[in-house]
Amino acid sequence: MKGLITDIHARSILDSRGRPTVEVECFVDGSLMSRAAVPSGASTGSHEAVELRDGGDLWHGSGVEKAVKNVNTVLRDVLVGSDVSDQEAIDGLLIEADGSMNKSIMGANAILGCSMAAFRASSLAKGVPLWQNLPGTWPNPSLPVPLMNILNGGAHASTNVDVQEFMVVPYGFPDFDSALRAGTETYHALKKTLGEKGLLGGIGDEGGFAPSLQKNEDGLRLLVEAIERAGYSSETQIGIALDVAASEFYKSGKYSFDGREIGGADLSAIYSSWVDRYPIVSIEDPFDEDDWMSWISFTERGHDIRIIGDDLYVTNPIRLQKGIDEGASNSILIKPNQIGTLTETLKVMGIANQEGFDCIVSHRSGETSDDTISDIAVGTGCGWIKTGAPARSDRTSKYNQLLRISEAGLPYSGWV
Ligand code: PGA
Ligand code: ZN
Repeated sequence: MKGLITDIHARSILDSRGRPTVEVECFVDGSLMSRAAVPSGASTGSHEAVELRDGGDLWHGSGVEKAVKNVNTVLRDVLVGSDVSDQEAIDGLLIEADGSMNKSIMGANAILGCSMAAFRASSLAKGVPLWQNLPGTWPNPSLPVPLMNILNGGAHASTNVDVQEFMVVPYGFPDFDSALRAGTETYHALKKTLGEKGLLGGIGDEGGFAPSLQKNEDGLRLLVEAIERAGYSSETQIGIALDVAASEFYKSGKYSFDGREIGGADLSAIYSSWVDRYPIVSIEDPFDEDDWMSWISFTERGHDIRIIGDDLYVTNPIRLQKGIDEGASNSILIKPNQIGTLTETLKVMGIANQEGFDCIVSHRSGETSDDTISDIAVGTGCGWIKTGAPARSDRTSKYNQLLRISEAGLPYSGWV
């Protein structure tokens, strides 16, 4: 039989923040077929699958030698001899070898590296593009609308801005290429404006600018100004998406926002007034990951926007089901390393689709040049991808892969 995994090999490489991460190679029928690298979050949800870090002094505790060793010993042994095209069986073996509820034994970083390397290898072995090789039935592939994070705050910047991500969303364009161009021109327009206002400081972890601002709302004003300065309409062409990542500033039932301690209802009122006055198309993690009541009552307000759970759901089917049952949001962020295998990631997307929730496939703030998420977003036809600023190769690798795929003539998802 051909198409068997003959070896798996992992090593530690550097991610975009200069921290170690896991890279895995998959050999099929004796030849090196593929390589995959695992990303890492900064504002991680507490319910995520466990990223195994070594602790101790080396790398200030962030080494991944234990995870690498797990791949090169236990996981290699269970995968060698497997049919590389049977992703579900491969992921089943990985889950079984770990045996825990949260992948804390082998490490979700070790497991996802193997899962993605095998997925990439099977596409190469079959000679089909990755986006056409997703396990399951995904009948409507499309180019996703990018959520481009051009102003960074929160845990991704050393500034006073509480909101983690201010993103532009170029939905009103006929194809992905022109949407990407418009979003990128907006990024450069924002740079000019920040420079003129003396606000151009550093760059955040996802490649966006990281100014200190008097109030969080200033970020919204700056984005609208940048969209219009670039020559686009903030009403019909480019909208704004926020990732508040509110768990990062929630403590003892209060949110520390704009220098004040406020409750969930007050924060909801602020969001509602923003939605009324700015072209906001989505808000991610508006509340803490366990403040379900605030999520439910904000969703009940019926704003015509995507309310996206990231830390809330951590790409986990049990948490997603609770959110569906209780009406806690209407959309979910999808990060493969929050759950740990490709099969489980796609299962969560399937549940979301069935229940009318939108899926936004996402990178992490710590990234590599791995571009697998681009193909997942296209192949599932989910319509949205969140992958940072249109700058820095850890971010542009995903956009550039989408440009390559766009040559196949797939439709641009656009506004739906
Ligand atoms: P993280 O940020 O990768 O640091 O968790 C991304 C996000 O919150 O969406
Ligand atoms: Zn988030």
